[in-house]
Amino acid sequence: MEHLQGSPWLLAHRAMLKPNQPQKFALLGQDYVLWQDPQGTIAALPNACPHMGAMLSEGWCVTQPEGSSAIACPFHALEFDRQGRTILPGSSKQTKALLPPLELVIQGDLIWTYGGYEPKVPIPELMNAIAAEYEFIGVTGERSMPTDILSLLLNMHDYNHQNGTHRELF
Ligand code: FES
Repeated sequence: MEHLQGSPWLLAHRAMLKPNQPQKFALLGQDYVLWQDPQGTIAALPNACPHMGAMLSEGWCVTQPEGSSAIACPFHALEFDRQGRTILPGSSKQTKALLPPLELVIQGDLIWTYGGYEPKVPIPELMNAIAAEYEFIGVTGERSMPTDILSLLLNMHDYNHQNGTHRELF
């Protein structure tokens, strides 16, 4: 396995998630849908609907009576809550979780996850210190590509990137 199981992954800054606008992201070979409800609660579920596999990130959010949001599938509009439960047509009862939620760690405005693995490496405090000093103004691009682990580490932990440089680290 090339991935660093047990390492924290920074998924997003809270400002990247407009309330009730689902976002797709990929982590460790899995696609997820991430959304923030109007109360600021953030949730993530696998991105494939358990009915016929539609991408939930192409669906929409439905505000529940208590204020949280469920995600509605774009194919047949089944609505899944943060725990991955739904109410099937003709039933008034909630199902058990049909989609396992991705566990998130929210630190301030930063959204982290261990990708469902046992945490082995602490979340670096440096990122929170940086986030506290700067105002988030946006992202420069959204693109993922396969790479070898050494390049990934260099890019993920090269804090010179904030200065826009790509010079040798050491
Ligand atoms: S594919 Fe999602 S409700 Fe049918």
